[in-house]
Amino acid sequence: TFVVGQNCIRCKDTDCVEVCPVDCFYEGPNFLVINPDECIDCEDCVPACPEDAIYAEDDVPDDQKAFIELNAELAEIWPNISEKKDRLPDADKWSGVADKLKYLER
Ligand code: SF4
Ligand code: F3S
Repeated sequence: TFVVGQNCIRCKDTDCVEVCPVDCFYEGPNFLVINPDECIDCEDCVPACPEDAIYAEDDVPDDQKAFIELNAELAEIWPNISEKKDRLPDADKWSGVADKLKYLER
């Protein structure tokens, strides 16, 4: 499966949503997650994300391993998103900022 990592937080560009052939993204207030039971490993979302936020599960950086479980957990709670919307208003300001997990809203 593929995993959305910390770079997405407070950016939520949603270009990933537009390319996913199986609509397996789920949306929270300032972050998206991938449902690991639905992802078909097509990899299309990886180059689509302008924040380079998406990793193959095996390639998730060591300091972001918690996002594997977080994607699975939140995909069960949050609503599905299947169409692109605007980036968050402050996305440019938060692009590339490290350690954004503390800003995750549920
Ligand atoms: Fe969707 Fe493909 Fe990305 Fe999985 S790898 S979330 S199926 S676009
Ligand atoms: Fe987030 Fe990138 Fe998608 S910023 S919403 S993972 S395009």
